[in-house]
Amino acid sequence: MDSTTRFFLPHIAQMQGYVPGEQPRESGFIKLNTNENPYPPSPLVIERLHQACGEGLRRYPDPGATGVRRRLSQLFGVEVEETLVGNGSDELLNIALRCFAGPGDQVVYPYPTYAYYEKLIQLQGARSVLVDFAEDFSLPAGIVVPGAKLTLLSNPNSPSGTLLPREQLEAVVAQAEGLVLIDEAYVDFSTEGCLELIHRYPNALFTRTMSKSFSLAGMRLGFGFASAELVAGMWKVKDHYNVNQLSLVAAEAALDDLESMRANAARIQATRQRLTGRLRELGFYVWDSQANFVLARTPGPSAAGLYEALKERRILVRYFAQRRLEDCLRISIGTDEEIDTFLGVLEELLKG
Ligand SMILES: Cc1ncc(COP(=O)(O)O)c(C=O)c1O
Repeated sequence: MDSTTRFFLPHIAQMQGYVPGEQPRESGFIKLNTNENPYPPSPLVIERLHQACGEGLRRYPDPGATGVRRRLSQLFGVEVEETLVGNGSDELLNIALRCFAGPGDQVVYPYPTYAYYEKLIQLQGARSVLVDFAEDFSLPAGIVVPGAKLTLLSNPNSPSGTLLPREQLEAVVAQAEGLVLIDEAYVDFSTEGCLELIHRYPNALFTRTMSKSFSLAGMRLGFGFASAELVAGMWKVKDHYNVNQLSLVAAEAALDDLESMRANAARIQATRQRLTGRLRELGFYVWDSQANFVLARTPGPSAAGLYEALKERRILVRYFAQRRLEDCLRISIGTDEEIDTFLGVLEELLKG
């Protein structure tokens, strides 16, 4: 008997781990594969991090993330007790699954979406219920599953970038018996979020992140919103020092300079529009994106082949070898220069 079968819980022994997008160790790549922000974070973040490195690292960080939560409360018009801070929003998703879905419980999500949801469900020994998105990524009928403990909705969705209208989300939250977690990782690149639903529905839970719009993927900082009762319960599950001191400092500074984030998000929206237009001219089908990436279906050539050929030329995009996405590439929005280089290489490859 090998160690995997001998020591691990059977459901963990059987599952495959999540495979994140490549993070090449060498420099020189144009990285359009993991939806990072191509622009630097606010200068205030850098300044405060320099100060923080000289002091305060000897002690544990504030387990209550008080400074960040106070700012979230002020900025989003919620109570401090309705906010939660995590080591990336992935940690908050993890906490939610651990709190709300046990072995055999049904967890619903539309397909295709953020692939990590499936891994978190498997880790719990819970049962996933996949409901296919329509071709245009509109919300599928049947997303409200009686008896489901949890429904996971990424809005805007990854990898499509598409946004579900607020009324449809509200209808899901209103009808669901269990919790509905709305993952707004990409909301700052879109036209609307809907976290005010936490004040109308006890089963609504939101997660957001500083990895995308705030250019802080390396700091691992996520935040969430829910009723004070839900937050208090989730608090029991988190590691006490779940967010490190430097990340707390960076998050506070980032929230003190929202203008910088908004300016970068606006640049990314403009580049997204230009990229979408050009890809369509080249014959790709591109879903209307409200995120910092676009999903493009190739006009003929193999998507896997294009992915490999781009990689040989040191341009990384994301290819998902899975149902519904075999003929698509997901391209994160880079700087204008990076996108121009990408488009130039792509045009050459299409001609070839
Ligand atoms: C839909 C979605 N949710 C959550 C995350 C996790 O973000 P982080 O853990 O960096 O906050 C990602 C990352 O790519 C994502 O695409």
